[in-house]
Amino acid sequence: MLFTLLSGLALPSLAAAAGISASAPTAGPSKSTGKLPALGWNTWNAYACDISDSKIIAAANQFVSLGLKDAGYQYVNIDDCWAEKTRDSNTKQIVPDPTKFPNGISGVANSIHALGLKIGIYSDAGTETCAGYPGSLGYEEIDAATFTGWGIDYLKYDNCNVPSNWTDAAIPPGGDWYNSNSAVRYRQMAGALADQTRPVQFELCIWGQAEVWTWGARVGHSWRMSTDANATWSYISNIIAINVQHLSSVGFYSHNDMDMMEIGNGDLTTEEQRTHFAAWAFLKSPILLGTDLNKLSTTQLAIIKNAELLAFHQDSTFSGPAVPFTATANAPVTSPPEYYAGTSTKGTHVFIINTGSSPATKKFSFANVPGLGSGKYTLHDMWTGLNISGTHSGSYSVKVATHDTAAFLIEAAEY
Ligand SMILES: *[C@@H]1O[C@H](CO)[C@@H](O)[C@H](O)[C@H]1NC(C)=O
Ligand SMILES: *[C@@H]1O[C@H](CO)[C@@H](O)[C@H](O)[C@H]1NC(C)=O
Ligand SMILES: *[C@@H]1O[C@H](CO)[C@@H](O)[C@H](O)[C@H]1NC(C)=O
Repeated sequence: MLFTLLSGLALPSLAAAAGISASAPTAGPSKSTGKLPALGWNTWNAYACDISDSKIIAAANQFVSLGLKDAGYQYVNIDDCWAEKTRDSNTKQIVPDPTKFPNGISGVANSIHALGLKIGIYSDAGTETCAGYPGSLGYEEIDAATFTGWGIDYLKYDNCNVPSNWTDAAIPPGGDWYNSNSAVRYRQMAGALADQTRPVQFELCIWGQAEVWTWGARVGHSWRMSTDANATWSYISNIIAINVQHLSSVGFYSHNDMDMMEIGNGDLTTEEQRTHFAAWAFLKSPILLGTDLNKLSTTQLAIIKNAELLAFHQDSTFSGPAVPFTATANAPVTSPPEYYAGTSTKGTHVFIINTGSSPATKKFSFANVPGLGSGKYTLHDMWTGLNISGTHSGSYSVKVATHDTAAFLIEAAEY
């Protein structure tokens, strides 16, 4: 009777593990796109709902005129509020707002593609978007076909207005959050996108819920790690602290998203904007600019076009982010960590954030940097593009301004 007893116990949990997840699509994200973290721009932080095709096409033209396209920026993404409030009653398709988009979304897509750029759109894994426009839950196949028919290359998929019967259990079926109702809502769209011929980069805007970093790569190319960004040091510092706990999830086709950029918004200091850009780059988050590009200062443009940080971010050979290391034997533990090391095609890099509220001298031992040791080294400053004079051994110290980030390429010195 032991067998009967065991199977009697096992059956209910097997049934639970089956549930809606058993019939949900299991298609993974396209491997024709999204290998590297996205580089681009999105309407939301700049304009929220006040969008139009002219603002979006202006941004695309600025990609070209400001040298952002040459620097690698590619995606021009439309966020919420592009649609009419109701679907077409016959086709059930979402309808672009004809006032904001007189030539439809396909018209914008054509203009953006003509510039050699790519276009993104926005929908929601619920009944309505966050601003109350039609959501795609239950309409995934229609919407995926509509979006790709318009020429869409990227989909940001938000998490508002989820019906109560989709609430997650405290423990997902089988203990795997891939089987959670949240994941199933995203898997339904992943399956619909996989049914289209056009590859779409798929961003799960799930706000760090349902332990998305454990299953995100099975469903999309990137996933949000938190609620929305804002233009404050507290946001930048909090999201770094959150993201560093899950860096093993980052790789090709697999990116923790720290949310869109606030450079150009609010009153972040220049140093805070440098850290905003550098940390998103060395942690390999998508970098989607979120401001009126026309208003960027020369200093801000230099930050977002920094060729060496972008090369680290877009390295097609080394997939991993920089990770925290213990700088010296008695270095204090901070949150977020201040010292990071990573590898690129160029070699070994060290990044140092001064999280404190006054300028400070930051010191690290070469032997504590993974891959380095007791030898002699030269340092190259990734911000200025200049070599630092002399050879160095043992340790290196550098003064870092409040909330600034130092960025180095470190090479073995020739004797
Ligand atoms: C919630 O209800 C809808 C409509 O009945 C149904 O299609 C869907 O599968 C349900 N979701 C779950 C997780 O059971
Ligand atoms: C900005 O983000 C921080 C960190 O997530 C949060 O504590 C703060 O409340 C946010 N501020 C606003 C105005 O939303
Ligand atoms: C910096 O040093 C590297 C060797 O470590 C050298 O190849 C490069 O030319 C130097 N760059 C400048 C600008 O001096």
